[in-house]
Amino acid sequence: MLALLLLAVGCKDAALDDSGLPLAAVEAGEWLPGGDATNTLLMGSNAYLMPAANLDPEHEQMFYSGNSFFNQSWVEAPASTANRDGLGPLFNARSCSGCHLKDGRAAPPEDGVGPFVGLLLRLSVPGEPAPAPDPVYGGQLQDIALPGVTVEAVPSITWAEAPGAYPDGAAYSLAAPTYHLDEPGYGPLPDDLRVSPRVAPAMIGLGLLEAIPEARLAALEDPDDADGDGISGRRQAAVDVLTGEAVTGRFGWKAEQPTVAQQAAGAFAGDLGVTSTLFPADDCTPAQACPPESSGGDPEIEDHLLERVVLYSRAVAVPARRAWDDETVLRGKWLFGEVGCDGCHTPNHTTGDFAALPELGGQSIWPYTDLLLHDMGEGLSDERPSGVAEGREWRTAPLWGLGLVPTVNGHSRYLHDGRARSLEEAILWHGGEAEAARDDFMALSAADRDAVLVFLEDL
Ligand code: HEC
Ligand code: HEC
Repeated sequence: MLALLLLAVGCKDAALDDSGLPLAAVEAGEWLPGGDATNTLLMGSNAYLMPAANLDPEHEQMFYSGNSFFNQSWVEAPASTANRDGLGPLFNARSCSGCHLKDGRAAPPEDGVGPFVGLLLRLSVPGEPAPAPDPVYGGQLQDIALPGVTVEAVPSITWAEAPGAYPDGAAYSLAAPTYHLDEPGYGPLPDDLRVSPRVAPAMIGLGLLEAIPEARLAALEDPDDADGDGISGRRQAAVDVLTGEAVTGRFGWKAEQPTVAQQAAGAFAGDLGVTSTLFPADDCTPAQACPPESSGGDPEIEDHLLERVVLYSRAVAVPARRAWDDETVLRGKWLFGEVGCDGCHTPNHTTGDFAALPELGGQSIWPYTDLLLHDMGEGLSDERPSGVAEGREWRTAPLWGLGLVPTVNGHSRYLHDGRARSLEEAILWHGGEAEAARDDFMALSAADRDAVLVFLEDL
């Protein structure tokens, strides 16, 4: 068995299918994208709900406890249930799982009308040296409020269809969104307000991404495109709020947050209006004069409970591949490399020591991302700089688990704001540094384009 595997890895790209077309080889371990932490037990609509398979019993217990806090609805303070009061006064949802449904991803509303479920609008105004949250509306739009508190605004989306065609004549159409904010509750919105729409991503494999060594990400960087492949890529600059240290950003669509803990505490404050020791203030600005009696304690979520939600958020397992050795999948995998998708969607990393959850260390993982920022062209720009990222720059989205989105969440919406209605549309939106790869994909035969999609569906 081992000899066979070595042989397969050794003869990479050598195999041919029945019609003589090259296939990629099966690589050791690629069917377990999360290494020993992979979920091999449960597929179907609950495929994202499993704990990392190698958690020790104590951590597994904390996982399930964290899971219940991730799912529970927070309520207005004061309430008899002190562990879950402190919602709002301004908020986007009542629970984490309200947006991260079944630990999967959210989609924009079909009719474009708010309140949005799992689609956040981040806000800022230009400033020196860096853009700043809007002085009145804060860092994100909250479109729900406690009774007696004014809602910030009513968001909606309109779509413009733009038809296009492949070189072989096959037609497609992309729907470009425009975002609107009506009925502002706290005075007119500034003319220079910047709005960045983001859907809630899946919760799988996040601790493994956190455990990729900084040095590995630094080695993948090529900010000035020294190798001349048209793809640069740089790390997002973030600050670890706990230590004050400058570190690499990893989480969120522009990689603004460096750790799962910071992303989770930020979500409590920003999305639910629940304060923590990490983020003692929610997103209610002085100009909004939110009622002080809505506080559910100081902080509203205690450290030991936040810790469980953080452990949970780190330890949700990545599902195993289903058809990694299928011939069409291997054809698609070969083409994925051939057209240069792997210039950003780096297939494989080995995690380093991870003190926060040692089980996630030393794993060979297959997330298909370099976690770096790339210029994706004007079509995907939100025109809102954030950290070192320009409007056109986004973090390479991990592709693991992607094929199960329709099964788990009942939709097939992709990209940072869910604008793509299929994996194919997601590829067609690629521009900027990814333009050459997109063009090469478009130039493939219909059967080969399909093989790439079949490969993605197996991740
Ligand atoms: C209103 C919807 C919403 C709610 C509620 C919400 N999230 Fe999120 N979550 C998002 C969005 C949107 C992102 C992407 C953020 C970005 O790009 O800035 C995200 C990203 C994350 C990430 C990083 C994922 C990645 O791939 O980078 C983690 C971890 C996370 N959320 C945890 C939580 C936790 C824990 C809670 C509950 C305290 C929560 N979220 C509540 C919408 C939500
Ligand atoms: C220059 C870097 C780069 C290259 C090359 C590239 N991508 Fe991407 N890809 C990204 C980034 C960045 C995103 C996130 C963009 C966004 O959400 O606006 C992304 C998103 C995606 C998504 C959607 C993921 C999600 O979670 O919604 C898919 C699917 C995808 N890429 C497939 C491909 C394929 C297939 C190719 C080759 C034809 C490719 N990519 C080439 C950088 C790249």
